[in-house]
Amino acid sequence: MEIFRKVSDMQAFAKNAIREGKKIALVPTMGFLHEGHLSLIDRACKEADVVIVSIFVNPTQFGPTEDLDKYPRDFQRDKDLCEARGASAIFAPEPSEMYAPDRSIWVDEEKLSKKLCGKSRPIHFRGVCTVVSKLFNICLPDVAIFGQKDAQQALIIKRMVRDLNFPIEIIVSPLIREASGLAMSSRNKYLTAEQKEDALSLSRSLKTAEKMIAKDGLSACGAAVEAMRAEITTCNGEIDYIECLDSSTLEEPTDKTTELLIALAVKFGTTRLIDNILIGV
Ligand code: PAF
Repeated sequence: MEIFRKVSDMQAFAKNAIREGKKIALVPTMGFLHEGHLSLIDRACKEADVVIVSIFVNPTQFGPTEDLDKYPRDFQRDKDLCEARGASAIFAPEPSEMYAPDRSIWVDEEKLSKKLCGKSRPIHFRGVCTVVSKLFNICLPDVAIFGQKDAQQALIIKRMVRDLNFPIEIIVSPLIREASGLAMSSRNKYLTAEQKEDALSLSRSLKTAEKMIAKDGLSACGAAVEAMRAEITTCNGEIDYIECLDSSTLEEPTDKTTELLIALAVKFGTTRLIDNILIGV
């Protein structure tokens, strides 16, 4: 497995793979890999001949008061996991390699980015779209794999690829949970044992909401969100949002809605977790 730190080396590797007629898959990550990421790498290995995992804690998607400095990092462990899982290469640049000091171009999605996480993280998706565009230009993938855990991100990336005509297929791979039901996240590392127990209220309440909507349809959305609020608040969660929206538009569901996204962001202590569920209606 190759490790590249420089944009030019990564691009040379990718161009060479293309010359050899190989299909390239990219798995963009911020490292500190868990089973959720590994499932994306597995999917990438099924889709392509060459699998590139990018490991880059992207500073431009963190707000000034967010956890950029303490975001967990363990490159050696990530490297071993990527190798064991069959990745062909890791792209792990320094921030200075990715961003010129006088950079002045951003990729900004203007609609979906204003919803859900965008309300409390106003610059987040601009940073994500910008870095993912750069990763696409550096790794030259035919296909890129994102996790359903970041449902809003996946939707925005698909919109970006459509609107900017990136010749790349976007695959969204299912959300992976721990046996307890907790959605896998690098940020779970911040939780104390007690907070981890409390955080189980997220998946539990999503299941309750799913049952309510399965029984009574769209008309149960409001009551389902209220039931989730009650359960999560009882478990000491500080709710940023819980919303039940049309999964393709992130607008309020209408009679044209065929799939709902119930998405939430909740803080336990200082740790902000996200989770979601898709429900066909
Ligand atoms: O989902 C993530 O880990 C990040 O947002 C991504 C896509 C790697 C961009 O930095």
